[in-house]
Amino acid sequence: MRCFAMKLFAAAFLLAVSCWAQSPIKRGEQVFAKSCATGYCHGVRGASSGAPRLAGRGFNQAYIINVVMRGIPGTGMASFATTLSRPDLVAVVAYVAMLNGVADPKIGSDGDDAPASTGPKFTGEAARGARLFTEAVRSFGRCSTCHEVDGFGVSVAQPISQVPASVAALKALATPDVKTGTTDNESMPVLMLSDGRQGTLFYDLTSAPPVERNAQPGSVKFTDGSTWRHSSVIEAYNDAELDAILTYLRAAIKP
Ligand code: HEC
Repeated sequence: MRCFAMKLFAAAFLLAVSCWAQSPIKRGEQVFAKSCATGYCHGVRGASSGAPRLAGRGFNQAYIINVVMRGIPGTGMASFATTLSRPDLVAVVAYVAMLNGVADPKIGSDGDDAPASTGPKFTGEAARGARLFTEAVRSFGRCSTCHEVDGFGVSVAQPISQVPASVAALKALATPDVKTGTTDNESMPVLMLSDGRQGTLFYDLTSAPPVERNAQPGSVKFTDGSTWRHSSVIEAYNDAELDAILTYLRAAIKP
């Protein structure tokens, strides 16, 4: 149902953008200012440090449509599928895409497909794996929530350099870079982005998608190791699907 609604929406989006060229961006800016930049939210032009910053994150359009339509369960990010009118949704997605450097919002992905660039490049099992890697029905359990491969996805983790030899090895993956962040009242698995005098920027891996956070110097204590398990974030796939994804990664990532 929802997936169908998203497809419809994506189709409407492409249609609207190709008909009105520039105008959805302007309208999107207004909708964004009214609905997204308020309170503890995304700030003027998506530049906030409260809720995650939206500008310049390398989000692709499929990802933006997904988040705006579904929201992010367990966070302050609501679904706007029913609260905004369709033209407003179209406009705001175009606007956030623009903030993320999608200069030509006519990119052909409707959220279920791998990017056009991986289509012709891979065949058979690898092509199936490419599709599974980014597949919208997996919601935030899909690999592209945290990994960018071939220009598609969000690089929460460092670029994948070692492709596990088997599904068993993928499930047993060690995650040496994940640390534990502790404050007075919470403890969370984190992936560091930068540490400086201004504070520490990190991803909180408590839920998917990981949330980018900024800690004042000294307010979060970081220790090596964590109880976070990579195997728990890939449960949206069965073994045969993971096998296809590994075939894709082997084809896409040059050692
Ligand atoms: C919620 C986020 C998240 C999702 C979803 C996710 N991963 Fe990861 N993955 C990570 C993080 C974080 C690391 C890095 C951990 C470290 O280096 O300590 C990682 C590491 C890896 C590595 C090791 C990379 C290397 O070069 O050593 C592989 C391979 C990998 N992931 C594959 C996948 C595949 C395939 C999927 C989908 C089936 C997936 N991941 C889904 C967060 C995620």
